[in-house]
Amino acid sequence: MKYRKLGSSDLIVSDISLGSWLTYSGGVEKAQSIACVKHALAQGITLIDTANIYGKGAAETVLGEALAGVKRDSYVLATKLFFPMTETDRGLSRGQIHKQIDASLKRLRVDYVDLYQCHRHDPETPLEETMQALSEIVRAGKARYIGFSEWPVEAIRAAIEMAGVEKFVSSQPQYSMIWRRPEEQVIPLCAAHGISQIVWSPLGQGILTGKYLPGAPPPAGSRATSATMGHFLADIGTRGALLEAVQALRPLAQSAGLTLAQFALAWVLREPNVASAIIGASRPEQIDENIVASDAVVDPDLFREADAILAPVQKAA
Ligand SMILES: NC(=O)c1ccc[n+]([C@@H]2O[C@H](COP(=O)([O-])OP(=O)(O)OC[C@H]3O[C@@H](n4cnc5c(N)ncnc54)[C@H](OP(=O)(O)O)[C@@H]3O)[C@@H](O)[C@H]2O)c1
Repeated sequence: MKYRKLGSSDLIVSDISLGSWLTYSGGVEKAQSIACVKHALAQGITLIDTANIYGKGAAETVLGEALAGVKRDSYVLATKLFFPMTETDRGLSRGQIHKQIDASLKRLRVDYVDLYQCHRHDPETPLEETMQALSEIVRAGKARYIGFSEWPVEAIRAAIEMAGVEKFVSSQPQYSMIWRRPEEQVIPLCAAHGISQIVWSPLGQGILTGKYLPGAPPPAGSRATSATMGHFLADIGTRGALLEAVQALRPLAQSAGLTLAQFALAWVLREPNVASAIIGASRPEQIDENIVASDAVVDPDLFREADAILAPVQKAA
């Protein structure tokens, strides 16, 4: 396992990290979720990502149980706020930031998180109020560093330029071989200002593992077949061109000595501004397979060939 520095912070994170969105918020049963988290830590994964909204507190609660008794400074814990927890508890106001961090710390059974992220930008709250409140919780020792996820570039720039407040050290965008939008503006802006990417759905929710075959029903037990986790893959049956293109990557992965999942993760990690690829894992074996990408050395020509194969289906992704 390799480790990278998170932006201008002093946090060092595993370049493959473990998320808990659909999986540990209820999609994967509790004992299996805890087994995955413990396995990830045993294999050298140090960054664990969650959010208050994942199962409305359920994912944080499972992580609190899984991490109980684990030496606190042996892992880096990241959570988020923004999405509605109740009709009135939502957004990035000062009151919400103080309320939601306390609730997250309680569920996670920790005194502090290493990274507190704004899950989205809140156009209804003045940015200054949000940044001041985030700074207050950092100064209170409840969060060591702050980050954002999927913010508009103008808001990122305004936060960077704001004086007298804590600085963002991380950005959490969707980024994968089939979702390259952050390359346009977010990555260059962040790279110039000490902000790393920790990227979500680096496997396109499983599409880039090659297990979804064009013209065939999704394999039993996969996310696309799950009543609780399959919502965002509901259109998989209409994405034949994309699934064909992913199958065409197979020989490239093979010549790198990797599986498709490993090849896709190594592709994400080729970008120096990416500190970590946050994978989901429904089984410990997926962690074993995926972490191989951390040490993979891939000929850049293979990635260039892969990009050419995927270019025609980028928009459809
Ligand atoms: N900031 C945001 O707005 C945001 C949004 C989404 C996610 N996230 C974060 O990013 C994390 C990862 O997102 P994600 O779960 O969509 O990531 P992903 O890594 O692209 O997809 C994970 C899923 O792919 C399948 N998979 C993984 N490895 C595999 C392998 N080797 N072989 C076959 N199948 C494999 C598993 O599903 P099955 O086994 O069930 O098929 C697994 O749950 C989340 O947990 C969350 O922490 C953040």
